[in-house]
Amino acid sequence: MGARRWPRRRPIPWEKLFALARSVRLHAYAPYSKFRVGAAVFTVDGSLFGGCNVENSSYGVSSCAERNALCVAVSALGARRIAAVAIVTQTERPCPPCGICRQMLAEFASAGLPVRSRTLKGRQASYRLEKLLPSAFSAQFL
Ligand code: THU
Repeated sequence: MGARRWPRRRPIPWEKLFALARSVRLHAYAPYSKFRVGAAVFTVDGSLFGGCNVENSSYGVSSCAERNALCVAVSALGARRIAAVAIVTQTERPCPPCGICRQMLAEFASAGLPVRSRTLKGRQASYRLEKLLPSAFSAQFL
């Protein structure tokens, strides 16, 4: 993240991203929290990938929707550059990504990565990753 900036090659298809996040949310495995989350990432190459949260009886093993969407993008396409993230939750208020997911996204994000979160009823919040995670740790510190 940090000073990295990638050329904006195409407009972000937010409605497609939210539709994907909403549909993949239905696959969430959340028997413990009952908190189902769907996420979709848009790569700079123009591909969309979705992920849902997958919980575990050993609660700490659980993985968030945002991280899983990112891992799908990396696994399926070898994605390295993410241009946008959409999140869908069942809550009254839109939810921002958790801290671990922020760090995970930062690895593949350009400065100012837009993150939008929507509820099932359509309430929306917009964030920038650099505001969600200022002074992120990155490879430049290794
Ligand atoms: N969760 C996500 O998938 N994304 C977030 O950003 C926050 C939390 C999941 C993890 C767990 O399965 C459930 O929501 C409750 O914390």
